[in-house]
Amino acid sequence: MKEKVYVFDTTLRDGEQVPGCQLNTVEKIEVARMLEALGVDVIEAGFPVSSPGDFNSVVEISKAVTNPTICALTRAVEKDIEVAADALKLAKQGRIHTGIGTSDFHIKYKFNSTPEEIIERAVRAVKFARNLVGEVEFYAEDAGRTENKYLARVVEATIDAGATIINIPDTTGYTLPHEYGAKIKYLTEHVSNIHKAVLSTHCHNDLGMATANTLSGILNGARQVEVAINGIGERAGNTSLEEVVMILKSHKKQGLYTGIDSKKIMPASRLVSTLMRMPVQPNKAIVGRNAFAHSSGIHQDGFLKKRETYEIINPKDVGLNQSSIILTARSGRAALKHRLEEMNIKLSKPELDEIYPRFLELADKKKEINDEDLLVLVDCDKSIDKSIRLIGLQVLCGKNLQASATVKLCYKGEEFVEVGLGNGPIDASLNAIRSIVKQKIHLEDFVIQAITRGSNDIGKVHMSVEYKGVLFYGFGANTDIVQASVEAFLDAIGKALK
Ligand code: KIV
Ligand code: ZN
Repeated sequence: MKEKVYVFDTTLRDGEQVPGCQLNTVEKIEVARMLEALGVDVIEAGFPVSSPGDFNSVVEISKAVTNPTICALTRAVEKDIEVAADALKLAKQGRIHTGIGTSDFHIKYKFNSTPEEIIERAVRAVKFARNLVGEVEFYAEDAGRTENKYLARVVEATIDAGATIINIPDTTGYTLPHEYGAKIKYLTEHVSNIHKAVLSTHCHNDLGMATANTLSGILNGARQVEVAINGIGERAGNTSLEEVVMILKSHKKQGLYTGIDSKKIMPASRLVSTLMRMPVQPNKAIVGRNAFAHSSGIHQDGFLKKRETYEIINPKDVGLNQSSIILTARSGRAALKHRLEEMNIKLSKPELDEIYPRFLELADKKKEINDEDLLVLVDCDKSIDKSIRLIGLQVLCGKNLQASATVKLCYKGEEFVEVGLGNGPIDASLNAIRSIVKQKIHLEDFVIQAITRGSNDIGKVHMSVEYKGVLFYGFGANTDIVQASVEAFLDAIGKALK
């Protein structure tokens, strides 16, 4: 039978501790709603005693989400616990996450205390919290560097005091995967009441081992993982939610699963990255820009023959439409042909052979060849007939005025002028062109992009038109976006009508 691994998301607590990543309450609610849609079991919503803003966020998130348990962090301090319980009052299921440092470093230097006194404080905090909320999770801070025998005593005492989830943080990201796994195994074998609690992993990434340590913890008996979207968190970050989820999904033989809807991973990653103004590194596993991009010729060829040759995850499973083929000087003819076909440009073998050396020449000069570069290349080849050309354009538009456009074209060697009306200057211009060519051409897709932010920017326009059931792609670029749009339309219909 398959066993569930519970996902405890700390993006809004440990993640939000990152300098520059602070969110306001409205933004936190947006992230919390996304986490609920993603299917996380627990949302750690904040550290209420730390500030009125954090307190308020825990209250508002408690109101905004229904299914996940809402968790609030505290120190093993009564005041913290009272404030957290207050913030959780409106949560459908509330959990207090209280704890104390258990390693020698923490006991001696942070608390100037003794191991026995730390156990007493931990027990007192758990009992106090247990009287105020339905569920208490205890964390033994720096458990990664805590001696196992002592840690087992702390765990046993806090379970006796009423904690039903025990978090074993590798706070400094120091522990090796086999050591972390052995620690979890030791606790399952040496804590007499361990069957009354769930063991939780909480691994930091200081040495790049957070995911490996978390996995090792799971394989040795932990059934809750504390993770953050995009692996954000204190210093080098927390374990990435998306990595752990996709490992368990990809390795089904382990007999473990999470409740995460993996198709929502990419939207969640983008939302967190945007709101926290924290870009995702391009080669980040699962959610990086290059995670499903193929750039070497050998890989591209294999991938185009069968996706699984070079991909272990279907991009659709994480909410991406498709993989991408990056055209560079290492790309082969197969990749070039594939991209051109995606742009609805079909070339014969001799035409492709003719273009390919010039493609390589250009790719040697540029890092990456984009669609516009390809259009220039293909155009140079004269395989696309420029039998339609813009000579003049004038538009009239504004508030309370129907837009009109006068378009002068050279079409099949003759000059034509037509006036079109529309719901805006672009629509009017396209209608004028339709009157000249006298064909039913349907605009399928229309994207205007500005490259920089200035009002003097060049607008790039990408269009797809449908003509007799076939799609044709067009591109135009100009500081005047109406002219860029007209050029993109003419580019597309030039291919359609040739
Ligand atoms: O890393 C850590 O030890 C923590 C605890 C507060 C759970 O974040
Ligand atoms: Zn942490």
